[in-house]
Amino acid sequence: MERSPSFFFFFFFLCSVPCLLTFCYAHPVENYLYPQFYEKSCPHLQEIVKAGVARAVARETRMAASLLRLHFHDCFVKGCDASVLLDGVDGIITEKISNPNRNSARGFEVIDEIKAEVEKACPEVVSCADILTLAARDSTVISGGPYWEVPLGRRDSLGASLSGSNYNIPAPNSTIQTLITKFKLKGLDLVDLVALSGSHTIGFSRCTSFRQRLYNQSGNGEPDYTLDQGYAAHLRSGCPKSGGDNNLFPLDFVTVAKFDNFYYKNIIEKKGLLSSDEILFTQNKETMELVELYAENNEKFFEQFAKSMIKMGNITPLTGSMGEIRKNCRRLNHAHY
Ligand code: HEM
Ligand SMILES: *[C@@H]1O[C@H](CO)[C@@H](O)[C@H](O)[C@H]1NC(C)=O
Ligand SMILES: *[C@@H]1O[C@H](CO)[C@@H](O)[C@H](O)[C@H]1NC(C)=O
Repeated sequence: MERSPSFFFFFFFLCSVPCLLTFCYAHPVENYLYPQFYEKSCPHLQEIVKAGVARAVARETRMAASLLRLHFHDCFVKGCDASVLLDGVDGIITEKISNPNRNSARGFEVIDEIKAEVEKACPEVVSCADILTLAARDSTVISGGPYWEVPLGRRDSLGASLSGSNYNIPAPNSTIQTLITKFKLKGLDLVDLVALSGSHTIGFSRCTSFRQRLYNQSGNGEPDYTLDQGYAAHLRSGCPKSGGDNNLFPLDFVTVAKFDNFYYKNIIEKKGLLSSDEILFTQNKETMELVELYAENNEKFFEQFAKSMIKMGNITPLTGSMGEIRKNCRRLNHAHY
């Protein structure tokens, strides 16, 4: 039997009304993140996380930097879903052994500690992904950086991706084009790249992450001449050609524990520690101008940093009934242990 086009249109219309009602009204809050997500289900969440971060940073100042970085390494791999926190048990191939994370990523015990307290207050309600996101914000604030409201409602992944961790997180000797591309793949632009790299205003790098610059930058046996040669000599004294791989150096040698814009000022003086830091100033006009802007204007840096952190925190979250709320951030719930 032939039907007129209008019949199909009418049929579709009838169908779509209940669908629209269902998706637009019945679940208004299930597929995006917003700051009040746990207002009723875990009213003291933010205080618990903040106090946990404060305790950890009082024990060791560097922990603020480590927690901030952990959030970045989570978000760039399958989105901000706490995949980085999973241990290599129960069939999980852990991200903790990837090139960027091995002997480097830290802060897992602090997240465990905070998660245990959150579980006591509000069992099986708050995701590890949200706890890590809040901890990154609180780490920024406690170091003297900007505050922002954190959109919440992420859920935890049911797996990890070692290859994603190796591939998506840029290396310290990446080219500017690689940095730009890897950020773009995550929906982040040049402004986000320069602002978020400002995280390197706190924390440390191992010798192995910048040794190439000191001795053999282009494979020609010469150092990286975009590095101040006095500063390079100082670095060489603690970072020999071989050995001392894990010797630590401040990413911002002026104010290592303070979240400020000295990172950008250092870069302009050829005293950025990583190649990936320095090339923001030397290899691209647009990123160079942003480095100059943030070096001159701390307020602009803080404002953009907050915006870019929210953007990074929104990378493909699991929401609604996707994933799960892990009880233990290191394990899937169904795992037997
Ligand atoms: C632009 C690309 C980036 C590259 C190539 C990069 C690379 C690195 C490297 C090599 C280290 C030292 C690791 C070690 O030697 O153990 C490091 C440390 C750090 N990174 Fe990045 N990073 C980038 C972007 C970011 C972003 C977007 C954030 C945060 C939003 C961030 C936050 C940190 C922090 C806070 C530390 C210090 C960690 C600590 O002391 O424990 N980085 N980064
Ligand atoms: C970057 O460093 C890695 C690890 O040290 C090395 O294998 C690679 O060849 C380096 N890449 C460049 C472009 O220098
Ligand atoms: C520098 O690196 C290149 C390529 O990685 C290598 O062939 C060369 O032997 C190195 N030179 C020195 C002096 O280490």
